[in-house]
Amino acid sequence: MNILLIGSGGREHALAWKMVQSPLLTTLFTAPGNAGTSALGENVDINTNDFAEVKKFVIEKGVDMVVVGPEAPLVAGIHDFFLNDDHLKEIPVIGPEKEAAMLEGSKDFAKEFMKKYGIPTAKYETFDKSRIEEAFTFLEKMKPPYVLKADGLAAGKGVLIIDSLIEAKEQLRDMIENERFGKASSKVVIEEFLNGIELSVFVLTDGLSYLVLPSAKDYKRIGEGDTGPNTGGMGSISPVPFAHEQFMQKIERRIIKPTIDGLQNEGLRYKGFIFFGLIKVGDDPYVIEYNVRMGDPESESVIPRIKSDMVELFRAVGENNLSGKTIEFEDKYVASVFLVSGGYPGSYEKGKVMSGFDAVKDCILFHAGTKRDANGNIVTNGGRVLAVSAYGDRMEDALNKAYAIAENINFEGKYYRKDLGRDLMDL
Ligand code: AMP
Ligand code: GLY
Repeated sequence: MNILLIGSGGREHALAWKMVQSPLLTTLFTAPGNAGTSALGENVDINTNDFAEVKKFVIEKGVDMVVVGPEAPLVAGIHDFFLNDDHLKEIPVIGPEKEAAMLEGSKDFAKEFMKKYGIPTAKYETFDKSRIEEAFTFLEKMKPPYVLKADGLAAGKGVLIIDSLIEAKEQLRDMIENERFGKASSKVVIEEFLNGIELSVFVLTDGLSYLVLPSAKDYKRIGEGDTGPNTGGMGSISPVPFAHEQFMQKIERRIIKPTIDGLQNEGLRYKGFIFFGLIKVGDDPYVIEYNVRMGDPESESVIPRIKSDMVELFRAVGENNLSGKTIEFEDKYVASVFLVSGGYPGSYEKGKVMSGFDAVKDCILFHAGTKRDANGNIVTNGGRVLAVSAYGDRMEDALNKAYAIAENINFEGKYYRKDLGRDLMDL
């Protein structure tokens, strides 16, 4: 099979790494990819937002399946584009159709869906320009901190958590009236603050049945002890020690199953990964958000633990045949530490030559912001540069191995968090 993978991050390198292990794969194309994916197949320089361009490539190269890494092409309707084209409609796309992708594309849509199907989530109400005064009254009735969420996609920046009522009102006005996050914040969800510890759970579904993937915890803030600004993710660990079997059963019964049933009931066709962003409050799981794709940086710890053939599973998704399949996992921990550019998530420089790859043993490097320069050197090409993923029988062992490698890979300005997993050790 020839597969086109869309995306360029660590998640896509992890997916690529997994797929090339399948005997079913002939050629892997990644658009646009990075230095990691180029070592596993062919990187292609097409504009994946231009579906006509994607079509031309797919036909020219005889692509048999498209795997979509990030949410944007899904929310823009790449799957629907394939289904509506006579030359493409038989080619499976892994990722939901546009309407189902609204689970990530619109917070209001997701919240309404959860409310309708009794899926535990924070209490909320949605407001637009015509209801600013009501929004203020709603805020006055809530307890701080106040959680304001831009309805649409805002590159992970659209959520504000604010302690003061006065500031919450100001920010709300700024979001709605001044379109602080563009059109994404012309509607704002205000919701109750949930106090607990977060985790991510994923399923792969063909829309009818599903397979539950291992849990993971990601580390979002730049600073140790979860301080400083949010990032695209500073690392991840899988499994999450507190997500033991009994807790996973609660998640499946209260959240996963009703979500799949709800999608079917709404006639929302979903093939691909569903990412449940969860929070454990007391002993109970609540949904913070849905994403319609794998997580990044969670993929870099979850995917290495999957033993089953991923291409075979994707093929089963395409054929509505997942119900007969099982998925097996490595009974080990994987810790994944992200090396980032100095200054990130603020401004940073690119093009720093990277070294230390020769000494890498017993771990996997997933590239994100890297590329090969004209001299063949691997150089930095983004804020989040490289994820170092290592296995261990205990979480501590996996972390120690990943950190030993992280220390030895060098580029000017390298930074990484040294406290991953610490929050999980004393639970
Ligand atoms: P989201 O984009 O919805 O995942 O929100 C970004 C982050 O904000 C989450 O990962 C949580 O850390 C935090 N967050 C969002 N909603 C809530 C909430 N209702 N209560 C507490 N924290 C939240
Ligand atoms: N790890 C959070 C995300 O992928 O959005």
